[in-house]
Amino acid sequence: MDFDLIVRGGTLPEGGTADIGISGETIVAIEPRLEGAARAEIDARGNLVSAPFVDPHFHMDATLSYGIPRINASGTLLEGIALWGELKPLLTHEAVRDRALAYCDWAVSMGLLAIRTHVDVCDDRLLAVEALLEVKKIVAPYIDLQLVAFPQDGLYRSPTARQNTIRALDMGVDIVGGIPHFERTMADGTRSVTELCEIAAKRGLMVDLHCDETDDPLSRHIEQLAFETHRLGLQGRVAGSHLTSMHSMDNYYVSKLLPLIAEAGVSAIPNPLINIMLQGRHDTFPKRRGMTRVKEMLALGIRVGWGQDCVLDPWYSLGTADMLDVAFMGLHVAQMSSPADMARCFDMVTNVNAAIMGLDHLGLAVGKRASLVILDAGNPIEAIRLRPERICVIARGKVVAERTRQDTRLSIDGRPALVNRRHQAQ
Ligand code: FE2
Repeated sequence: MDFDLIVRGGTLPEGGTADIGISGETIVAIEPRLEGAARAEIDARGNLVSAPFVDPHFHMDATLSYGIPRINASGTLLEGIALWGELKPLLTHEAVRDRALAYCDWAVSMGLLAIRTHVDVCDDRLLAVEALLEVKKIVAPYIDLQLVAFPQDGLYRSPTARQNTIRALDMGVDIVGGIPHFERTMADGTRSVTELCEIAAKRGLMVDLHCDETDDPLSRHIEQLAFETHRLGLQGRVAGSHLTSMHSMDNYYVSKLLPLIAEAGVSAIPNPLINIMLQGRHDTFPKRRGMTRVKEMLALGIRVGWGQDCVLDPWYSLGTADMLDVAFMGLHVAQMSSPADMARCFDMVTNVNAAIMGLDHLGLAVGKRASLVILDAGNPIEAIRLRPERICVIARGKVVAERTRQDTRLSIDGRPALVNRRHQAQ
């Protein structure tokens, strides 16, 4: 046999059709017509074949907890944080693990095969860290799961957050997180950015901060993040998530700020579903919508991905694990309506997000890992318009999800299961 699997005749995101030859866990050939034999073939003619979807910003310790212990009545970010504070003491290792694994099954069914999740370290028990480290191991054969040590209640504002952040990193959490705009003062926020970047530099880790997730035009922690990235030589390893205050910033200031972000090689991760839902809640009209300046950053060569942030948790009562929903909302709010920009939105939720996460092994190219998605769409723009069924999902050369009517059949580690993404509030 020349190949273990050939995916025949699918349409590539950049156009044209090809056969994709897979041996073991690797893509070994992409050609208009492969003549070799294979143990198995999949007919993808008429369908889009893509690199897998990647989510660079998520909260897996909170997902699928909607309604526990109650629902966020105001719908604001701050009530969400307070509600999460009520839920935290009720968490158990098993509950966090099981909800996370249920979500990972949803993700696989949607072709979402890499996720960066923040994990709150402000509970001294660190049970969510332990639970998600266990989940990371369990899903490793089919999902690249990165964990961020996230001091949700503030590195300095919460009495044990600083030591717990270090403990979590010692336990094997991958990335340094933070929330400078939630510290007691702007000065404390600035100081937290410096300390967190220094911790990352010392340990050789990446940084991903919840940064300026506010409508305050004077929340400028992204400036410090760019400065520290430049000072400490962390270029390419740092991301600023949300950056919603940039929506409200003075235009002259932004004209100075964006080149500094570009120079520092800091990536931006807006989360359109959540930003559009949570921001601007103190406004009447005109009402700010809290989307950072996506097109302006892209124009300067700043790497911008789209993150999902939340599914059915204290902050967001909807969500589907479908990165095409995220791209669809992002495209609208950022007004990326040209054909090139629409196609770019698809690239953002696949290849760009993978680059932000440093996942060089993902991508639809010879030598890359054989993880890919077959969609019931003719091209990336149609995929965003329709957010269609994932006909087949392949992870490391193995079919892990196939669509059968309403349910998706999973085959993971000899654990056959049907996934149905309907969910009732508890
Ligand atoms: Fe977040």
